[in-house]
Amino acid sequence: MTAGWTWEYEGYEPADERLRESLCTLGNGYFATRGAFPECTADDIHYPGTYVAGCYNRLTSDVAGRQVENEDMVNLPNWLPLRFRLRGGPWLTPDTATLLEHRLELLLASGMLLRHTRYDLGKGRVLTVRQQRIVHMADPHLAALRTEFTAEGFSGELEVEASLDGGVTNSGVPRYRDLDGHHLIHVHAGTATPDTVWLRCRTRTSDLRIGMAARLTSDALVTVRNKSRRTTQHTLLTLTEGGTCTVDKIVALHTSRDPAISDPLYAAVDRVGRAPGFDDLLTSHFTSWDQLWRRAALEVAGEPGHVLRLHLFHLLQTLSPHTADLDVGVPARGLHGEAYRGHVFWDELFVLPFLNLHFPEVSRALLRYRHRRLEQACTSALAAGRRGALYPWQSGSDGREETQQLHLNPRSGRWLPDNSRLQFHVGSAIAYNVWQYCEASGDMEFLHTKGAEMLLQIARFWADAAVWDDSLRRHRIKGVVGPDEYHDAYPDATMPGLDDNAYTNVTAAWVLSRALELIAALPEPRRRELAERTGLDGSELEQWEEVSRTLHVPFHAGVISQFDGYGELAELPWKDYRHRYGDIRRLDRILEAEGDTVNRYQASKQADVLMLGYLFAPAELRGLFHRLGLTLDDDIWHRTVDYYLHRTSHGSTLSGLVHGWVLARARRAEAWKFCQEALQGDIADVQGGTTGEGIHLGAMAGTLDLIQRGLTGLETRDGALWLDPVPLPELSSYGFAVRYQGNWGVRLHLERRELDIAVPSSDVSPIEVRLTDRTVVIEPGESTRLELPD
Ligand code: BGC
Repeated sequence: MTAGWTWEYEGYEPADERLRESLCTLGNGYFATRGAFPECTADDIHYPGTYVAGCYNRLTSDVAGRQVENEDMVNLPNWLPLRFRLRGGPWLTPDTATLLEHRLELLLASGMLLRHTRYDLGKGRVLTVRQQRIVHMADPHLAALRTEFTAEGFSGELEVEASLDGGVTNSGVPRYRDLDGHHLIHVHAGTATPDTVWLRCRTRTSDLRIGMAARLTSDALVTVRNKSRRTTQHTLLTLTEGGTCTVDKIVALHTSRDPAISDPLYAAVDRVGRAPGFDDLLTSHFTSWDQLWRRAALEVAGEPGHVLRLHLFHLLQTLSPHTADLDVGVPARGLHGEAYRGHVFWDELFVLPFLNLHFPEVSRALLRYRHRRLEQACTSALAAGRRGALYPWQSGSDGREETQQLHLNPRSGRWLPDNSRLQFHVGSAIAYNVWQYCEASGDMEFLHTKGAEMLLQIARFWADAAVWDDSLRRHRIKGVVGPDEYHDAYPDATMPGLDDNAYTNVTAAWVLSRALELIAALPEPRRRELAERTGLDGSELEQWEEVSRTLHVPFHAGVISQFDGYGELAELPWKDYRHRYGDIRRLDRILEAEGDTVNRYQASKQADVLMLGYLFAPAELRGLFHRLGLTLDDDIWHRTVDYYLHRTSHGSTLSGLVHGWVLARARRAEAWKFCQEALQGDIADVQGGTTGEGIHLGAMAGTLDLIQRGLTGLETRDGALWLDPVPLPELSSYGFAVRYQGNWGVRLHLERRELDIAVPSSDVSPIEVRLTDRTVVIEPGESTRLELPD
């Protein structure tokens, strides 16, 4: 395999273990397991975790004198455990025995985690442990672990114990430790056949049933011991000097959410019994990964290419073609850890645009997750006194608002009200994704049915939320929080929320105008159906038209204001804070711990106004402002970019990405610094300790899209593929393949100012490519080279 396809860690570093476990997680879209040592249990260093997409449970805890309810993605029984010791000796772990060598290799091409460790047993005796681990990409219910033990300098007996452990809790995030993490009950273990054991349990309140089964193949006899929460298979290997013994553990996992099964335990036992041996499992697993890499081909040279491949790998492990069959959303932290409790935020805005052009069926499934919760979103709007759909800031199983009521500031130890639920802009992100998905895939059926239903109700919410201000002669949207989560209230205000967040209002105007356009374009029978079901009539459409043209976008000092009054807030002494604290990304926590509040300052956590430059190409953004009766020229935009660049602390991994994107599009030299920050986000744990709690999926996918749409200026609109590449000197050559409106494997390659496009043969329609200075039509089976204008 060519260089850049392996992600490696050399040596054992306890302090890095949590991060490595996250980045060495293996998954297949259905479930994922962190890259923990099989011989270690959860403690301050290690945290094995296994999560099935969409498997949540809700518990109530006492926090700071209040009863708070939280829904968590459940840490399921641990299938990994496999420990070993010389007969009668202590169990060997990296924390209790001496390691002579330790290496982890994540093979990105084949989706396998290799582990090579040499344990020093004293007196010249060395035990080499080599493991190969997969979470199967072809059969999403299977995982497998092969362990090879080699004796050096001795012969002797090695005891090996392999378990399924149901005694696990959700305890992977220190900040959540005051919360109840005991999600599993009725844990029972049993034996199916001498080499196959099982474990079953239920989640405490969501009452999901989980079945797990393990088949152990050893060179020696296997015996079984079942305890209440654990089943253990034991085997005694006879090691000879220089000889190798192999133990294979194959595991099946089902839950009662799975289709086409009667009982998860029966399904797991049955599946593991039918599963082929380890080598055959590898073959089918590798084939599936090959296919994935072909469908998401990305060529970027050097270290950036290496990191991007890792990002793509984790994206594909969280959202794979298997996701297309599930009722799940985009978990902000992947299936890689417990931060944000597996919840679904607006982060899909950074994920779907990439998926749309490779796995449209996955995008569609993720949008269907939102559509199934449209009724709940309408109920939430009603409860807030509004019409339409109010999607939750954090979504879990049933689409109700899952944002916690209190959050802990680890710096001050105080539990504080969490007002981030006022980020109503999540609805616009869903609408944007509906539109983008349909443009990229040409899926008119979705656009006219579920897509239209969502768009209509989201638009209706915005129109109803907008209030007319006679003095401004404009509509205003009050009491919201924008993407910059730092500001959640005006200084000294008794109520949370801010007025006229520019991002919220401009995207709301976009949603309204798109909804109007779509309704006008619907086939008449379908328009009638929608009107009958929703009570939509001409006067409501007139109101939408009016609101879409009159929403207030505040300005100050010649720049777009993040919200009304932002310009009147105090300036933060940035230098002073940087000097005093070094890392000031979480300025909100620093100021709160000082007894102050970030609400008083012009200081933002992440891109907010600048998100507009991320979502919309300059011409579209100018058009949106024009529709609002406002002028947005290059000068205003560039001033706005500079203004916020100096007032943002980048307390979210999304921030570096958006700034990198916006600056690259503006052809600014600082772009690369932010792109690099986005590339480093998880591998260097830029947000200080957060990667160990799960990857940042939005930022990872966003870096892929930075190449795909950011640098190329690729847009799918009006039935054409629009391209307007911008140069980024540090990334001047790249290529990728997309699926566009039924054309599979369309390859684009850009080298300096030359663009090659090749469309594989098929009987699908040709592709119309529009550059800023010309339009070309490429027939299936043809390729073309285009010189780009400077
Ligand atoms: C960011 C949000 C994001 C969330 C989940 C927060 O830190 O501010 O924009 O949606 O993380 O990734």
